[in-house]
Amino acid sequence: MAQVTKNKKVLTWVNDMAKLCQPDNVYWCDGSQTEYNRICNQLVKSGTFIKLNPKLRPNSYLARSNPKDVARVEARTFICCQHEVDAGPTNHWADPKKMKATLTKLMHGCMRGRTMYVIPFSMGPLGSHIAQIGIEITDSPYVVANMRIMTRMGAKVWPVLKNGDFVKCFHSVGAPLKKGQQDVAWPCNPDNTYITHFPETREIISFGSGYGGNALLGKKCLALRIASTMARDEGWLAEHMLIAGFENKKQGLKAYVAAAFPSACGKTNMAMLIPPKAMSDWKVTTVGDDIAWIKPDKNGVLHAINPEAGFFGVAPGTNPETNKNAIEACRANTIFTNVALTDDGDVWWEGLTKQPPKHLIDWQGNDWTPKSKTPAAHPNSRFTAPAKQCPCIDKNWENPAGVPIAAFVFGGRLATNTPLVYQSFNWQHGVYLASTMGSEQTAAAEGKMGEIRRDPFAMLPFCGYNMADYWRHWLDMGGKITKHPLIFRVNWFRKDKKGKFMWPGFGDNMRVIEWIVKRCANQAGAHETVCGLSPSYHDMTWKGLAMTEKQFDALMAVDKDLAEEDVANQAAYYEQFLKFNKLPMVFDAELVLLEDRLMRG
Ligand code: GTP
Ligand code: SPV
Ligand code: MN
Repeated sequence: MAQVTKNKKVLTWVNDMAKLCQPDNVYWCDGSQTEYNRICNQLVKSGTFIKLNPKLRPNSYLARSNPKDVARVEARTFICCQHEVDAGPTNHWADPKKMKATLTKLMHGCMRGRTMYVIPFSMGPLGSHIAQIGIEITDSPYVVANMRIMTRMGAKVWPVLKNGDFVKCFHSVGAPLKKGQQDVAWPCNPDNTYITHFPETREIISFGSGYGGNALLGKKCLALRIASTMARDEGWLAEHMLIAGFENKKQGLKAYVAAAFPSACGKTNMAMLIPPKAMSDWKVTTVGDDIAWIKPDKNGVLHAINPEAGFFGVAPGTNPETNKNAIEACRANTIFTNVALTDDGDVWWEGLTKQPPKHLIDWQGNDWTPKSKTPAAHPNSRFTAPAKQCPCIDKNWENPAGVPIAAFVFGGRLATNTPLVYQSFNWQHGVYLASTMGSEQTAAAEGKMGEIRRDPFAMLPFCGYNMADYWRHWLDMGGKITKHPLIFRVNWFRKDKKGKFMWPGFGDNMRVIEWIVKRCANQAGAHETVCGLSPSYHDMTWKGLAMTEKQFDALMAVDKDLAEEDVANQAAYYEQFLKFNKLPMVFDAELVLLEDRLMRG
């Protein structure tokens, strides 16, 4: 074993894991380009990677996962803390001791025939006071390659870590090889998958899956589930939010906005938005597209960093019209997972071009033509691309101090009765609004697509502790900051009776964001509605878009009966938090006030 660090806690842990898992070798990742190239070549040889045409897609690869391992597995995701009440009713709880015993059995010999990789990484710019160091042990070279794009990874972490503490991130695909046994392209163990978190000891153990947030442990496991508990303890926020800058030099406006949308509901798109032609005096810059760590600075102003270094973005629907910047970001040096392969060695997915190619190899390796009944790319197929390749990356994206946040935006995917945009009356009302957010289930997690579920703060699958304590933490934070970001709800996904989107979305979302940024600068009008503070037709820019006042009113309309029903539904949702007296009292008050407004009309 090469001596790469003298940190005893690291050495002991790696040693213990090697003894338990019995890999053929232990390899300490240095994070170099040479190492990355070597691992990618090895993945090509083993059949996990297909090298894409270097002329069309330089230094890029396609991986096809096992069809049983294509998304986060929420049913197999556990929060393991001493008391069940601390995990809360929205998480799967497990007793830490019992879970460790189960996992230890599974881990025994689980890396036989494989190499154990040790990946030191930093979430956040190396050395930033907001950053956290993790070490992932994995037997998946695919994970190593992805982690090099998604995090600041390698030897440069050791001098920052010194003898300090780190988050232990253990990962195994759970598929040991017998002597001489031929490996498969995507080893995994879908029948024994566990994504487990131990917030009290800041540990993660993930077993059986090689995909996305299940396996790239810096992302959802560390940067959200573990970090949310750190944030609660230390007085900051770890959120499922994009961070983007919106600037209009002509009008002297500039604001950074953090926005929470559930998985596959538009964060990457909003983070890299290109304004419509008629609004080209607006410039959008990206700080992050998925996760935000937000802390008050010494003046009590909330500042946010993006803990990640890459984008693990949804491929389907991404094209030069919807998200040109993402298309640019994944032109080279990118890993594609579960997209289709074109005959000339490039990638394709639904929505990339209007006309699909005449022939493709689909995400499962089968021939595909436009007549095929199944999609060519999996709905949760993804690209892993370095953030620095994004043409609109913000000049402060690696600023260790973060960027000041002027507004929080919360939005689900809702076909009915949720207005395009409105502002909360105040911080407390905003926290209440975010706590009741609903959204249709998407392909980013296993489960039935389209079903509506409450996804408070877009954190339902990612909060590492009791959701009601999390709400209380947000309310408390309101008392710890001097400058309160304004809070908004948006919905890009309202549909008409024929099932057609009523709002063009994508670049045109700039119209809504302009109103938001202007509200922050006290430069746009609003009137009180039952929901909150809403724009009138004349408060927004319509140049370049055929949107009549009537159409706008339909986008903003709230049906009273349906809203009444929703109040009852919200109350029922809150009930599960009453058991341990966790529900913030002020939410009850907000419900009463909402009913009041509905009654007065
Ligand atoms: P995760 O990476 O899973 O957290 O997803 P995300 O929130 O970053 O979602 P993303 O921006 O990748 O969008 C997911 C899907 O929604 C893609 O297919 C997009 O094309 C689509 N989408 C994004 N923004 C809009 C919009 O404004 N309107 C409509 N109709 N679709 C959108
Ligand atoms: C999400 O599901 O919100 C994602 C993808 O961003 S994953 O990394 O798989 O969690
Ligand atoms: Mn996400």
